[in-house]
Formats: sequence, structure tokens, C-alpha cells
Amino acid sequence: MSNVPWPSDWPTEWQKKPAGEKRVAIMTGGGDCPGLNAVIRAVVKTAAQNGVRVFGIERAFGGLLGNGKVRELTNDDVKDILNRGGTILGTTNRGNPFRFETDKGGRGTIDRSPEVMGKLKALGIDAVISVGGDGSQRISLELVARGINVIGVPKTIDNDLGGTEVTFGFNTAVEIATEALDRLHSTAESHDRVMILEVMGRDAGFIALHTAIAGAADICLIPEIPYDMAAIIDRITHRVRRGTFFSLVVVAEGAKAKGGDVTILETRKGAMPRYGGVGHVVAHEIIQRTDREVRVTVLGHIQRGGTPSSYDRLLATRMGAHAVDAFLRGEESVLVGVEGDRMITTPLDKAVAIEKRVDPKGELVRMARAIGMGFGD
Ligand code: F6P
Repeated sequence: MSNVPWPSDWPTEWQKKPAGEKRVAIMTGGGDCPGLNAVIRAVVKTAAQNGVRVFGIERAFGGLLGNGKVRELTNDDVKDILNRGGTILGTTNRGNPFRFETDKGGRGTIDRSPEVMGKLKALGIDAVISVGGDGSQRISLELVARGINVIGVPKTIDNDLGGTEVTFGFNTAVEIATEALDRLHSTAESHDRVMILEVMGRDAGFIALHTAIAGAADICLIPEIPYDMAAIIDRITHRVRRGTFFSLVVVAEGAKAKGGDVTILETRKGAMPRYGGVGHVVAHEIIQRTDREVRVTVLGHIQRGGTPSSYDRLLATRMGAHAVDAFLRGEESVLVGVEGDRMITTPLDKAVAIEKRVDPKGELVRMARAIGMGFGD
């Protein structure tokens, strides 16, 4: 028996867990991402087929810590959500139960994990399906160390997680950014301007690279290849000398100059610094050093919101179904992923240890260079 009091808003029926009944909890943590609802739907439907009960925890661990509810999810609850952006469970990137913020500024933290584990135990949860990025999966590892079985589902538009070739949400983000770049292309050309598109990508430049190739950018700046302003200026002025007066630049928010640092928009104690503004930094330099007109578009959270692409709906559905399959097979503490056309699982600790980055010498970068794109180096 758990030592936490039975929460007053939990039905007493949940207390009776018949022998042999299986229960999983599902939560979405960290920044949201197109495809989260598709994962939840697939988990609930696959579980229902196999007689597994699913309990949705709102706002990551919030639902166990007084910031949201726990609700049982059935097939009825996941009707019409496949194509919806966001997450029906809500999310937060500030709810780490091991270092729970005691005030909004993150000045003090306490360990509320005993409460989380006590409630999971009281509810008879056999596994937690944690849909989240690197931060959430690191929390999963801490729970695993305390004896909770966590099946992780990797989520991020940045595509920078190990244990999977690709994360859901990435394809949608690239589609949105490519459409934006196409639109900037025509206005750049009419006005003979340098157009800079700043996209997300804290530590990995996958969104920027794929968008730049798909949208025919002239320059792509990513965290993995620190840039040199002189090389960027050279490329732009070379195009002008050749009679092409516009240029398209895609820059990842985490890009930085050689020997320089990332551009930070906001820092807050206890939270990851918010990146943003490198597009304006690069624009300022181009304006100072050339006679070009420059405009900057920061795409921001438009890349994260709204309906997932069909590719991401499919991938997220596969991942959700595979998470339940892994649980039913008796797998413990793994991250689901995709490799080629196969669904796989990787031990959570191994997957979390991998930092997936664009390979500066890889095929995509070499190909992009071969067709004339510059990386500012
Ligand atoms: O990790 C995904 C991501 O989209 C990053 O690229 C970006 O820096 C971050 O989320 C922004 O998160 P927030 O929602 O806290 O602004």
C-alpha cells in the first residue's frame, strides 16, 4: 500500500485493481510538438484492444502534484484528436518533481518525487508512458532509478534525440518553415533584399538544414558549424556581382559566430535560457558591411503549433502503439524509436546519453555545399 492519502477527486473504484489487470499512465512533458495527440490516441486504442487501462496525467507530473487532474482515458476520449495540434493532457517544462519550484522565479526547489511515486503506486500503475524530450526523459531516468517502469516516447521538433532516426513533430516544423521560406523567396526577389529566416533548433540545426535545402536558401547557419561574418558577406556580395540582388538566409536559433556565443533572449533561474535573436544579430552585421536591405522573420512557435503533417501523424501513431507493445512484451525502461522501416526500443539511459546533431561532414551538408549553399564558414 502507498503511504500517500487517496486524493479526494479520485474515484474509489480506481482503488480496486483486480488481479491481473494492467494499468499504464501517460503524460506529455516539455515543450509541445505536433503529433502528441496522435501518440495519446494510439496508446489508448492499443491499450484498449489489449485490456490495459490508461490513466492520463495532466501537465506532465502536475496532475499528481495538484496542478491538474488524473483522468482515465478510453477510446471515447481520443475521438477526433489525431489531427489536432497541442496535447489534450497539457504540458509544462517547469514541473520536475525532483526539483519542484517553490516559487515562480525558480529560487527554491524541493523534492516532491515521493508524492509522485506514492500516487503512482496507489493507482497501481505498472508503467508510465512518458512522451517528452531530453529533459523529460532525464526525469524518466530518475524515476527508473527509484523503481518505476518508464516507457519513453521521444518528442521534439528539433529532432535532436537519440534512440530514433527521427522524432515526430520535426517533419511538420520543416514543412511550416519551408512554406515560410518559399513566401520570403518571392518578396526577397521583388525587392532585391536579403531575407533572414530564424527557425528553432537550440543545439541541433536539423530544422534549419532541411528547410534551407528544401527552400533553396543561399546560406544556412546552424549550431554545429560556427559562422564567420566575412564568409556570409562574401557570399552575398558575390551574388550581387553576378547580378542576383537578393539572398535567402536560414539561421537556427542556436547558431553562433566562430569564437562567439549563442544569442539569448531571456534567462530565468532554474530554467533553460531562451534562445532567440541571432537573425537580428546577423542582419545588423550585413547592414553595417554592405549596401543591402535586410529583413528578418523569426518563425518561433508557429513551428510547434497546429495540425501535424500526415508523416508525423503516422510516426506518432506508430510510436504510441509501439510503446504499449513494448510494455505488453515486458520491456522496462526503454525509449521507442524508428530505424529505417522498423520500430525499435533502446534502453532509456543509452538513448538519453546520445546527443544527436547535424554531422558537418555528413551527406546532407556535403550535398548542400555541392549545390552551392554556404554555411558561413
Ligand atoms: O526544444 C524544442 C524547442 O522548440 C526549441 O527549439 C526551442 O528553443 C524551445 O523549444 C522553445 O521552448 P519554449 O516553449 O519554452 O519557448
